[in-house]
Amino acid sequence: MTTNSFEGEFTGSALSNAELINKRKVINGEDDGLMQVSPLKHPWARDIFKSMQRNNWVAEEVPFQKDKEQWESDELTTQEKDTFLRALAFASNLDGLLVHSLSEIIKPNITSPEISLAIARQIYEECLHVDSYSVMIEAVGLDPEDVYGLYRRDKSLYYKNKRVWESMFKIKRADFDTKKIEDAKLFLEACTTNLIFEGIFFFSAFLVFYNFGRHNKMPGSKEMIQFINRDEDLHVQLFVNIINEIKKEQPELWTKEVQDKMYKNIVEAVQMEYDWGCSCIGDGILGLTPETLKDYIQFIGDLRLTAIGLPKAFNSKNPYPWIDEFTQGSMIEVNFFEGTVREYQTGTLEW
Ligand SMILES: [Fe+2]
Ligand SMILES: [Fe+2]
Repeated sequence: MTTNSFEGEFTGSALSNAELINKRKVINGEDDGLMQVSPLKHPWARDIFKSMQRNNWVAEEVPFQKDKEQWESDELTTQEKDTFLRALAFASNLDGLLVHSLSEIIKPNITSPEISLAIARQIYEECLHVDSYSVMIEAVGLDPEDVYGLYRRDKSLYYKNKRVWESMFKIKRADFDTKKIEDAKLFLEACTTNLIFEGIFFFSAFLVFYNFGRHNKMPGSKEMIQFINRDEDLHVQLFVNIINEIKKEQPELWTKEVQDKMYKNIVEAVQMEYDWGCSCIGDGILGLTPETLKDYIQFIGDLRLTAIGLPKAFNSKNPYPWIDEFTQGSMIEVNFFEGTVREYQTGTLEW
């Protein structure tokens, strides 16, 4: 947990800045709570923060006029509209949950100020995503009940939301303390759960929107998802680094039992996402089929497993190479900081 530096009286015998930084850790480090970042102990966290700043955007930059025309005309079939609304419903639910899980579960346990900086920005970006879904609903003229209300009418979405919520909030209890080894292991698991949310559970929705875009349908929505996906890529990178850094700092947490649990969680998440994706696309839509969807989600699951040092579970290939056109190749497993620099220009997606 974070600081209690100011609970006692002044003694004049406090740690020096250098000693404080030497004791800095992702969790369970020394932290005076004053966010004195320099010199950095975790420079990758500020690199990610800076990349986040370069990705500034707002929903009002996205043109939705064409989407509105298509939605109101007969250009989308009933099945296409249903797929669109289902994908949008879960994506918007998940971004809402992330605002709370990052601020209530993850951030309070972080003791590295530069990582807190990146997570605080991430929380803002999840709010930006929440806002952009509502801007989109208003601009396209969707019925909010069809998006936000879906989970109250749809059993599979209700139980997916419930399971997602419970998997993250199970460690929210008064006596939770990462200084206890079993709780620290649970925190590491919560970080993997976050990686699953951001690195797996958005991906059938992203795919659906890109596929509409590929068929010249709902182009504004596709563009907004590109902005969101670009943010999510950095969130995934942040959590991969957090998990790997905790493993380095506290190797006693990375037991065979914990590794097996993480592996199982990711493999189960791939199945959950596949089931959800199928409930969105039915027997298939605009070239997406349940078979190729399965390969795609499994391919992504393997990326997440190997990123945190676990073996691949599926060895599936990406069946949708066209998706690179929308994601700038970010699905390919690359070390972000060795990859192409994405230059930000306001209002564009050229990165
Ligand atoms: Fe998000
Ligand atoms: Fe995110």
